[in-house]
Amino acid sequence: MSKMQKMMETVMLYMPDAAPDPLSQSQRGHIGKPLSRVDGPLKVKGEALFSAEYPVENPAYAAIVYSSIAKGKITKIDGSSAEKASGVLAIITHENAPNVKNPPVFMSGGVAASDLPILQDATVHWNGQPIAVIVAETQDQAEAAAQLVQVEYETAAADVSFDTLKQIATPPANILGEPSELKSGDAETAIEAAEFKVNNLYRTPRYNHNAIEPHATVAVWHDDQRLTVFDSTQSIHNLSHTLAEMFGMEPEAVRVIAPFVGGGFGGKGTMWWNTPLCAMAAKVVSRPVKLSVSREGIFRLVGGRTPSEQRVALGAGKDGKLTALIHSGITATTTHNNFPEQFTFPARHLYAAENFYIGQKVVNLDTVANTFMRAPGESIGTFALESAIDELADVLNIDPIELRRINEPAQDPTRNTEFSMRNLTEAYRRGAEKFGWQHQAPRSQRDGKWLVGQGVATAYYPYYRFVSTARVRISADGTAVVQTSAQEMGMGTATVQIQHAAERLGLPIDCVSFAYGDSNLPPAPLAGGSNQTSSNVAAIAATIEKALRELLAIAGDDSPLAGLNYEDIEVHDAGIFSRANPLKGETYASILQRVGQESVEAEATSDKPSEMQDYSMGSYGAQFCEVRVNPESGEVRVSRWLGSFDCGKILNPKTATSQFRGGITMGIGMALTEETLFDERTGRIMNASLAEYHVPVHLDVPPIEIIYNDIPDEHAPSGVHGIGEIGITGVAAAIANAVFNATGKRIRDLPITLDKLL
Ligand code: MOS
Repeated sequence: MSKMQKMMETVMLYMPDAAPDPLSQSQRGHIGKPLSRVDGPLKVKGEALFSAEYPVENPAYAAIVYSSIAKGKITKIDGSSAEKASGVLAIITHENAPNVKNPPVFMSGGVAASDLPILQDATVHWNGQPIAVIVAETQDQAEAAAQLVQVEYETAAADVSFDTLKQIATPPANILGEPSELKSGDAETAIEAAEFKVNNLYRTPRYNHNAIEPHATVAVWHDDQRLTVFDSTQSIHNLSHTLAEMFGMEPEAVRVIAPFVGGGFGGKGTMWWNTPLCAMAAKVVSRPVKLSVSREGIFRLVGGRTPSEQRVALGAGKDGKLTALIHSGITATTTHNNFPEQFTFPARHLYAAENFYIGQKVVNLDTVANTFMRAPGESIGTFALESAIDELADVLNIDPIELRRINEPAQDPTRNTEFSMRNLTEAYRRGAEKFGWQHQAPRSQRDGKWLVGQGVATAYYPYYRFVSTARVRISADGTAVVQTSAQEMGMGTATVQIQHAAERLGLPIDCVSFAYGDSNLPPAPLAGGSNQTSSNVAAIAATIEKALRELLAIAGDDSPLAGLNYEDIEVHDAGIFSRANPLKGETYASILQRVGQESVEAEATSDKPSEMQDYSMGSYGAQFCEVRVNPESGEVRVSRWLGSFDCGKILNPKTATSQFRGGITMGIGMALTEETLFDERTGRIMNASLAEYHVPVHLDVPPIEIIYNDIPDEHAPSGVHGIGEIGITGVAAAIANAVFNATGKRIRDLPITLDKLL
């Protein structure tokens, strides 16, 4: 076995450093412990390999040439100077690229971001579309040669102005499978008639992905028959299928490996052009190729969040009860993708109003496809809705938390179902106490020259679970390995699943390892929609149950377990014991050694997520913040934050707190500094760099305190909800509400920059 093969076999496994010590084998109790990341030491030591770092034999390096027009045709592409540059191995354009099929697009059976042909014709669909790939001996040589490619275009008129097109917006066929419009009663008339009302437009800009690890791929062909890609993806299994479809291969012939991903946030949830371009390049030069997209390149070829214009109108009586709720608006998408962002989802589930209208429309722009970006829809939707609730509270002169309590629905307001779990009021109660919430009049607090204000907003994200498969092997040495093709982007997936599996097996943490990040492992869903933890939990629980039943069956008549059924047993101390008599039992090692088996292995698939049909399922939270605004410069500083969440059972408070904090940090950027600037004459993104697209840095972020109810959802496997995305929701509204409280000025147009406050 070559060194590389060996590494591929073992790199995804966190093997315990020493042989397990039977004396250290503890009772159960791993769930809910703040276990540090199992992959932490590898990352700190620089031993965790990210996609671009995979050592392959004799790699070549690729660089991309991007179109500089938004729409039209390439009439001439001249690579003759580039070809002569040193180290250049190939120049791949639509004129000589290998034939590949169009990728299947998200929501129609595939997970590519768009279904456009990739380097198959001369048509340009957006400014920044890859139009050539240069392959060279080194990265620098590839990039230098990319500058030398001469391109001539025939330019067509492009639709790149959201504001111009929004007059002709139309409702999409559906929004992630839900109707684009919902109504009850006559909301417009009820708003008119309401004693207290608000009715405003909110705008959010385009945002771009800036994960710390730029998208990267290493592609290796094996005799043109099989393909291995090391890729920074959130969707291992879907990516192997998508590539197989494009290259006309069986899915088993495409292996995707992605053990460490440096952040995804949705930007790596669908396949972008860089991955198939890398595979095409490796085919052309008959060598492994590495393609690391530059930071600027991420802006060009990876989509981000849609711009939006949203209307929220609320009507209420003196008692604060909503009589009408309207949340409608427009987002942008393209003709080559299928993703109307679900900004009205929060309004469908948060408040009860007898009359409501909820409706979304889209316009098609000639841009790169928009995509998932941490709580796509919910983050911008809660900005509008939760700002409007705060505005109504001001009109009613009532504490905004009290207004939310008054309008807390007993059951889902738009679906005829009960909530599976909802303790939002409790999250507000605990949050208000810990934060020291006191409702103050606008512009009534100062700290020196700084105006001070506090704001709250509700966080909301739906519950998703998908069918998933896992495998477990319990060995005679008392260790266990759990395997599934899950993705780890830094959230703590491996860590919490090791805790979960150790709990279900009654094993010490260091006796359990978790293999993931490889499409050769049993299929797991993408890490998206915050589904991964609940999906994996369900699959691993089913798998471990199957293995325990098998162990019970093979234990035989010589075992103290003889005669016991699965229902009669419990696990602890590295073995199976009688529930009725916890001293009566046998360790896994003893059973396997006695019957002369090295291990027992089981594979199982979770049941269908019927809980999502039976109940309205969501996660909730209350965001509390304090801001300071400089009245002379308009500068906003977030000075304090507390997030109080209601997300079911928390498996690991350490990794969970990091997830919530990360979401809030990303929300602070969304609220105050991030904005993709788009030249509407050319459709070109103007600030395609971290120097001009400001993501929050340490000085922008205050200490963030996180608390949570930790109440299990009895209708979800292990009581667990996903937590990856909810953290960003409500953040921009909490800041806008705090800015209003500090200054008396209401900003309905993100980001809240100083010019808007002066
Ligand atoms: Mo999430 S935006 O589905 O990675």
